[in-house]
Amino acid sequence: MKHNIKLRKQLKRQLEVTNIKGTFVQSQPIWVRIFHWGFTLCLTGTILTGLQLHKPASFLALKFSKVFTFHIAFVWLAMGFVGIRLSDAIIRKDDSLVPKVQDLKQFPKLIAYYLFLRPSPPPSRKYNSGQVFVYFSWILLFLATSFLGLVSYWQGEHLVWVWRLVGGFQVIRWTKFTISIYFLATIPLHIYLSLTENISRLQAMFTGYERK
Ligand code: HEM
Repeated sequence: MKHNIKLRKQLKRQLEVTNIKGTFVQSQPIWVRIFHWGFTLCLTGTILTGLQLHKPASFLALKFSKVFTFHIAFVWLAMGFVGIRLSDAIIRKDDSLVPKVQDLKQFPKLIAYYLFLRPSPPPSRKYNSGQVFVYFSWILLFLATSFLGLVSYWQGEHLVWVWRLVGGFQVIRWTKFTISIYFLATIPLHIYLSLTENISRLQAMFTGYERK
């Protein structure tokens, strides 16, 4: 009996130590965090000013030329943050944002988990397959849209071949608008899952360290 109580006390102490203190491991290096929050801010600015340019909300009474200047500034800054992340990935040989065949295989299992058909998510690398696909698509689409933006900014002065290839200014406008809607549809999901799935991953996006 006495032995049992001692064991229970030991177990309780162990659980307390791992639960309360846990072990901290570094999971988000400084440049990933700088990229993440910088990109979040600039992309939000880009999308909001882009929507205002697309269809000005008259109640805001904002000058078109001012909104345009802010739009361009936000895109250049966001491109800078993407540049930081890409350089960081090359220097650290980090491929966590690049989808692999293994991610394709795990994706149906992940969806089954999100639909409550599986008790736990399938094993994954740093990010799960859904995250990798979405993050990769964001970076790719952001770069493609920024390039199309540059094409329309130069108004047929430079890169005329791209203008002709895609089919003109209206097609560029339509493509940029559709991609903005894709961002607007997927970002809330990203924020929702970041807040509900594993809060220590969110902590790591601020401090760099994750509690395991
Ligand atoms: C309040 C808003 C946001 C919160 C709370 C948030 C939170 C997070 C968290 C917690 C992670 C790490 C996920 C993990 O470790 O499992 C992450 C990663 C990421 N988020 Fe966000 N996020 C937000 C907004 C955005 C926005 C607007 C974008 C851009 C479209 C974005 C793009 C990314 C990318 C690309 C990564 C991967 C980071 C890397 O390894 O480079 N996030 N986010």
